[in-house]
Amino acid sequence: VAADPEAGAKVYNKCKACHAVGEGAKNRVGPHLNGVFGRTAGSLEDYKYSKAMREAGEEGLVWDDATLGEYLAGPRAIIKGTKMAFAGLKKEEDVANLLAWLRRESGG
Ligand code: HEM
Repeated sequence: VAADPEAGAKVYNKCKACHAVGEGAKNRVGPHLNGVFGRTAGSLEDYKYSKAMREAGEEGLVWDDATLGEYLAGPRAIIKGTKMAFAGLKKEEDVANLLAWLRRESGG
């Protein structure tokens, strides 16, 4: 089944307490997500990441469907020491739908 960005908008409700995306989005508790596809992890200059996230980027972690999918399924399993306080998305379908929506809203 193809990913459904409209269903993904609902999944994003779990993210928006901490993240903004779209025109004029600013950093909140978490970094803004504009341009997140293709971004090196931990690389926004005006956001204070955990040491773990900065190091993951320095070691070559770049956000794409695969790496975001793993991170969002279990942030602390993938990046030990991340300060993102989020348990993870249990359903693969939720991840796929969320990423379809996020790709659209984040500008690619
Ligand atoms: C980091 C996405 C939920 C707080 C990140 C990053 C992504 C992301 C892609 C890394 C960005 C980068 O490297 O520039 C999401 C999505 C969520 C979600 C899609 C929902 C499914 C949350 C929630 C919170 C949160 C609920 C707050 C309770 C943070 C923080 C960071 C972060 C603090 C920085 C992590 C660090 O420096 O270790 N998030 N997030 N996120 N997020 Fe989230």
